[in-house]
Amino acid sequence: MALQTTDFLDIDDLTPAELDRVLDRASAMKAGEDDAQLPNHTLAMIFEKPSTRTRASFETGMTDLGGHAMFLGPDDIQLGHGEPLRDTARVLGRYADGVMARLFDHEDVEVLAEHADCPVINGLTDEAHPCQTLADLLTIREHAGEDVRVAWVGDGNNVGQSFVVGAAMAGIDVTVATPAEYAMDGAVFDRAADFGADPTVTTDPAAAVADADVVYTDVWISMGQEDRRERKLAAFDGFQVNESLLAGSDAAVMHCLPAHRGEEITNDVLESDRALAWDQAENRLHAQKALLVELLA
Ligand code: CP
Ligand code: NVA
Repeated sequence: MALQTTDFLDIDDLTPAELDRVLDRASAMKAGEDDAQLPNHTLAMIFEKPSTRTRASFETGMTDLGGHAMFLGPDDIQLGHGEPLRDTARVLGRYADGVMARLFDHEDVEVLAEHADCPVINGLTDEAHPCQTLADLLTIREHAGEDVRVAWVGDGNNVGQSFVVGAAMAGIDVTVATPAEYAMDGAVFDRAADFGADPTVTTDPAAAVADADVVYTDVWISMGQEDRRERKLAAFDGFQVNESLLAGSDAAVMHCLPAHRGEEITNDVLESDRALAWDQAENRLHAQKALLVELLA
C-alpha cells in the first residue's frame, strides 16, 4: 500500500503505522532481503551544506536498489548561481524519480516539494532531519526495544526536533535538556502531543540523564552557525556528555555525527562501549533504502 504522503519533509509526514512499516522494511533489508527494487530509478541529490553520511548512504542505497543517485553540490548547478529553487525543482522533477535535498531554510524544502513533480525527501534543514530520526529509531529498536527513556541533551534544532516527534510516534519517553536560549520550537511539543506524548523539558542536563536508558546529543555549532560559536559555547557550558554527567548511569549514548569531540561529547564517551553512533550511521543506509522503496517504487 502506498504511503499517505508523497514527500518526506519531516518524520510526521508518515503515520505511526507507516513509520513502523518503514522500520520493519529497514530491518528486513539489513538482514539481506528485498534489495533491487528501484531499477532505472534516479534520485537527484541537492546539497547546500556538506555531508558524509547523508550523501554516502543515499548514493550507496540507490546503487543497492538497482538505481542511480545524482550528486548536485552547491557549485555544480545553476541553483548556486542564481537560478530560483522553484525552477530547479520543476526541471529535476521531469528527469528524476525523486529529489533529496539538504538545505538551510526549511521553507525551501517545502518550495521544492511544491514545484517538483516527484517525491521530495528532506536530507536536513535548519529545522528538521527526519532521515536521521528513521535511523535513530531503528537503532533504539535494535539495542533497547521501544520501552526506553531517552534524554536529549544539547541544542534544540534539526536533529533533536525531528527526534522528539519521531520518538512520540514510536511511544518512546523523552526528556529534553537544552539551554533556555536554545530550546526547541514549541510546535515540536504540540506535534509530539498529537501522538499522545508529553516530553519533559528542562535546562538541567543532570536531571535529564538521571533516569535515562539512552542519552542523545548533537553538535553545538551546526552547519551555518560558525559565527555564533563563542556565544553558543558559553550557553552550552555544563551540557557536555562526559563521564561525569554519566556517572552512576549505564545509559547508552547516541550521536548523529559528525561529532566535535571535546565540545558536546568527550572522546572517551564516543570511543566507549556506550556509543551507538556507528550503528546509527550504518542504519541511515538501511532506513533510507526502506523509505526510498516506500516512496518511489
Ligand atoms: N548525520 C548526518 O546527517 O551526517 P552528515 O552531515 O555527514 O550527512
Ligand atoms: N545539527 C547538525 C546536524 C548535522 C548532521 C547541523 O545542522 O549541522
